[in-house]
Amino acid sequence: MNSLLKTHLLSTDNVQDQLAVYNPADGSLIGHVRSFNLETVATIIEEADIARHAWAARPAKERAKILRSWFDLIMSHQQELAQIITAECGKPIAESMGEVAYGASFVEWFAEEGKRTYGDVIPSFADGKRILVIKQPVGTCAAITPWNFPVAMITRKVAPALAAGCSIILKPAELTPLSALILEDLSRQAGLPEGLFRVVPTTDPEAMGRLFCENRTIRKLSFTGSTAVGKLLMAQSASTLKRLSLELGGNAPFIVFDDADLDDAIEGLMASKFRNAGQTCVCANRILIQDGVYDAFLERIVARTAALKVGDGAAEGTQIGPLISQKAMSGVSALVDNALAEGARAITGGKPHDLGDLYYSPTVLADVTQAMEIAQKEVFGPIVSVIRFTDEEEAVKIANDTPYGLAAYFYARDLGRVWRVTEKLEYGMVAANDGILSSELAPFGGIKESGIGREGSHYGIDEYLEVKYSLMSGLAD
Ligand code: SIN
Repeated sequence: MNSLLKTHLLSTDNVQDQLAVYNPADGSLIGHVRSFNLETVATIIEEADIARHAWAARPAKERAKILRSWFDLIMSHQQELAQIITAECGKPIAESMGEVAYGASFVEWFAEEGKRTYGDVIPSFADGKRILVIKQPVGTCAAITPWNFPVAMITRKVAPALAAGCSIILKPAELTPLSALILEDLSRQAGLPEGLFRVVPTTDPEAMGRLFCENRTIRKLSFTGSTAVGKLLMAQSASTLKRLSLELGGNAPFIVFDDADLDDAIEGLMASKFRNAGQTCVCANRILIQDGVYDAFLERIVARTAALKVGDGAAEGTQIGPLISQKAMSGVSALVDNALAEGARAITGGKPHDLGDLYYSPTVLADVTQAMEIAQKEVFGPIVSVIRFTDEEEAVKIANDTPYGLAAYFYARDLGRVWRVTEKLEYGMVAANDGILSSELAPFGGIKESGIGREGSHYGIDEYLEVKYSLMSGLAD
C-alpha cells in the first residue's frame, strides 16, 4: 500500500459511513475512506469561518511561505501521488506525473500572486474626497471537483482561495477522494493552520452540493464538472446569491485548414484528443478537416490512433487507460453506435476493447456530420469524429454551432486567417497551432454554457476577492 494512504484507508467494520474506492483498471477495491455526514460538514463550515479571520489578517508574504512549502511537499511526493491518481482514476502513470506537476504549479503561482492583490486610487469627483478601492477575501468558500484531474482541479481552486485569505471546504469526486485527502495532509505538514482547508468525501454528493449552495456562511462556490450539474448548483445557489465559478462541459472543435502544417497538426491532435483517454473538458471533440488535406490528414490520424497502446495506466508504455466507470463506458458506446447508425464510418476501433469492461478501443469515425449526436455532445472517450468542410466560413459556422464555449483549436499558417479565426471562434480559450493550452499562467475558462469565471493566471485570484469601494470625505482644509 502507498504509504501516504495509511491514515485514510479504514477497516471495513462499519462500511455504511464509508466510501469505497475502486481501481478502474481492473475493478479491484483500493479501500474505504470516511464519508462525512451533513451535520459534521455544517460544523466544519463554521470552524472554517472562524479560522479564516486570523489567516486573512496575516501578511500575504507569510501565507505565501506556507503555500510555497505546500508546493515543495507536493513535488517531493510526486511519484507516490501520481501512483494514487493512476490507481483511482486510471490515467497512464506518465500523465499522472504530469498532472502532479501541473497541479503543484497552481500552488507555486498563487503563493506569489497572493502578494499582488493590489487596490486602486481613482481620481475623485470632488475636492476633499478620495476614491479608494481595496480587495478583500470573499470569506469561507466551498469547492466541488471532478474525477478526471483528481489533483490539478483541486489546487487551482484551493491555492487561490488560500492565497487570497479565504478558507475552503472541498468535496472531491466520489470516485477519486484519495488524492484529495493526501493534498489536505500535505497542506497541514506545510504549516497551514487547522480548519482552513478541509476535504469532505461523501456518499451523498447531491445533499452535500445542496448544503454548500444553501448555507449562508459559505460565500462562494467553485465547481468543475458537467453543465447539467453546474446549472443545478446555480439554481440552488439563488436563495443565498452565492458567488459562483463554474468550469463546465465543452465540445471543442479542432480545425485543420488547407494551409496547416500537417506534421504539427497531427502531434497537436494526438495530445489534445487522447489526454486521459479523451476524458477532459478541453479535449478535441470534433475534428474539422478542409477538403484539400482531408485524405492525407485522415490517413495520418488513422495510423497514429491504431498504434496507440491500450492498457492498465500503471503498466509501462500505456497510452490509453480505462474509462472511469461503467456509466462512462455505456455513454461512449452509445454515442459511437448511434453515429454508425446515422452513417458515420469506423475506420479503426468503433467498439469496446478486448482488455476488459472499462476499456474502449481508440476509434476514428469518418463521414461524421454536425447534425449527428456525436458532434453535438461531449464524448469523453478516445473517439476521433471527423467532419469535412470546404471553406473558412463553413468551418467557423460548424465550430460555433454548439451551446458550449470552452476550448477551440485550429491549424493554419496564413497570418490573416489566424487572426480572423481566433476572433470569430466563440470560445473562452482558442489555440492556434497547438493542441494543449492549459497552464497556471493563463486564464482557463469558458463562455456560453461552458461556465463562468477563470482559473489560473492573475485573473484566477480575483474569483476569491471582493472589491470594496472606500470613499474618504472631509479631507479639504
Ligand atoms: C478539465 O478537463 O476539466 C481540465 C483540463 C485542464 O486543466 O487542462
